[in-house]
Amino acid sequence: MALNNRRIRLTPQSRNLTRAHFPRVEQLIQPLFVVEGIRERESVPGLTGVYRDTPESLLRQVEADLESGVKSFLLFGIPAGKHAARGTEIPGRNLFTESQISALKSRFGSQIFLAVDVCLCSTTEHGQCGILNETGDHVQNDVTVEALAIAAGGFAQAGADCVAPSDMMDGRIRAIRDHLDQAGLERTLILSYAAKFHSNFYGPFRVAADSAPKAGSKPVTLKDRATYQIDPGNYRDALASAERDAAEGADILMVKPGLPYLDVLCRLSESILLPWSVYEVSGEYAAIEILAREGLMRREHAHVEAWTAFIRAGAQSIITYGAREARSFLNQTS
Ligand code: PBG
Repeated sequence: MALNNRRIRLTPQSRNLTRAHFPRVEQLIQPLFVVEGIRERESVPGLTGVYRDTPESLLRQVEADLESGVKSFLLFGIPAGKHAARGTEIPGRNLFTESQISALKSRFGSQIFLAVDVCLCSTTEHGQCGILNETGDHVQNDVTVEALAIAAGGFAQAGADCVAPSDMMDGRIRAIRDHLDQAGLERTLILSYAAKFHSNFYGPFRVAADSAPKAGSKPVTLKDRATYQIDPGNYRDALASAERDAAEGADILMVKPGLPYLDVLCRLSESILLPWSVYEVSGEYAAIEILAREGLMRREHAHVEAWTAFIRAGAQSIITYGAREARSFLNQTS
């Protein structure tokens, strides 16, 4: 049998000329964690090159990231004081995170695109993504949405280019959009965690963001986030949630996690014609890192392969912990 399909695979040039998908550094968004009240920055287990930064180290990190060609960021602010967030006790603006947004924007201005995660889990005593009822067995929807809109308004006012609600309450996109528009912040984008699944791949993140659900001083019967994040077996729920967020005014939609949900990304990005992002979450990123550390994978090749799959499946942008190493990874693999 003579060569047939293999002919285009024979040289790097013919492979390059015939491939349809390859990620660009400009498509990657680097998550940042900034923590109030720590003296020195801390590394995050499993996430090579990712830190829980201090306000000072955050600025140095972004400076270095710009030099590596990264211009887009997703900021997670972790304040020192935690809120009870129960009953009628509703958290207000998140002033620590606002101060970090102002610091980044006054230093780097329009050189950076700064998205900011909007959720309550890093700010509440119980680690749930919303405000609990008195008995601790339910996350209240509408008061949570109110609190999220207030937080998002503060972030946008402080200079965020984009707010990214990750809480999974109903109706938050409309509430945030209305709140922003009324405050004259109609240019701030909303990146919605539209298809966010109740996943086991968020482990390292919860260490980084100090956001694991936990028992506090008062009773909590909720042990996980299953009452608001999407069930892994329920594609239709993901579609319905994404359609709702699109109708409520989201500018960019997201699937999260990435690799275990590539089918979801593929189908959703074909049926809803908004820009799609995908979050390569901490557990899937760390899985590659740990295999590479054991000598069982070449890390740069494995990361580029995963990013290529996201682009092929329909994403225009990728949130990944490896954005700051991407230029070097891509140079080694193309
Ligand atoms: C919080 C939030 C989570 C992530 C982003 N925002 C975790 C969660 O829902 O528990 C996960 C990111 C990652 O694992 O990298 N609402």
